Amino acid sequence: MNPKGKVFIITGASSGIGAELALQLSKKGAYVVCAARTIENLESICRKINRDGNHSFAIQADITDKTQCDKIVKVAIEKYNKIDALVLNAGISMWAKFDEVEDIGFFKTIMETNYMGSVYCVHSALPFLKNSKGKIISCSTAQAIMGFPNHSGYVASKHALHGFLSTIRMENKSDITILEAVLGWIKGTNLRNNSFKYDGKKQSGSTRKHTKEAIPLSLCVRTIITSIEKDLDTVYVPKKLSLIPFLKLFFRSFLERKVTEAIDKNKLV
Ligand SMILES: NC(=O)c1ccc[n+]([C@@H]2O[C@H](COP(=O)([O-])OP(=O)(O)OC[C@H]3O[C@@H](n4cnc5c(N)ncnc54)[C@H](OP(=O)(O)O)[C@@H]3O)[C@@H](O)[C@H]2O)c1
Repeated sequence: MNPKGKVFIITGASSGIGAELALQLSKKGAYVVCAARTIENLESICRKINRDGNHSFAIQADITDKTQCDKIVKVAIEKYNKIDALVLNAGISMWAKFDEVEDIGFFKTIMETNYMGSVYCVHSALPFLKNSKGKIISCSTAQAIMGFPNHSGYVASKHALHGFLSTIRMENKSDITILEAVLGWIKGTNLRNNSFKYDGKKQSGSTRKHTKEAIPLSLCVRTIITSIEKDLDTVYVPKKLSLIPFLKLFFRSFLERKVTEAIDKNKLV
């Protein structure tokens, strides 16, 4: 799909990957509908895009509420008359070993955001995506394929999303395409600071450093956009993550040992 002239809805466009996608896609001539809860951030990103002569608008929405997902789609149609692509990017994470979790309530928040929020958006947008022979893009994680210590609720939500989208792909094969972006650690986003810790509070101000292998935000987003342009169905960022399904199938104990050792030595945080 060539982004030029296409209408993209991007959830979670107020920071990180979503905001960078909005900026880079608009430079390629896309019309971007930027949704999230923090309207000030959305408006500042859209101001920047529109000031450069490109096209965007901000819509405040909490995707855990179906009526607000309907509103995103309704407003996009009123403004641009079509929807070509839906980017399921809004998400929230965690960092806690399951047996140390004191307030389990945040598992529900993660599921309602990462999984149900995406399901709601697809439900609202699908008829329009079918009309335009459009595309769904999901920002997922390699952790969803293999499991990952300290992320049980997050991994489960992204694993559920993968199962959902695999089915949507089969049911709508002749009408829409789907790109799943399977991401590793990406630098320069708010995911870590907004993630839940064992007591259900956000771990704002985390001092944990990213691994040396973490990917810069702009490179990650460029790779996702190239994959949209090439109509790929999966992209791994970085590329070596594409080994994970193979390793999981044939060398599962090795893979689990390596990840656990890296976490214990604080190399993979
Ligand atoms: N960063 C990484 O290393 C990494 C790796 C793999 C996958 N991913 C995935 O990439 C996606 C983007 O993450 P990021 O790293 O860019 O994190 P981020 O900077 O924290 O961005 C998350 C976005 O989601 C929005 N959001 C959260 N809850 C929402 C809700 N209920 N309704 C609407 N919007 C909501 C946030 O906006 P508001 O708070 O303003 O609503 C924010 O714009 C996530 O799905 C994440 O799982 C990230």
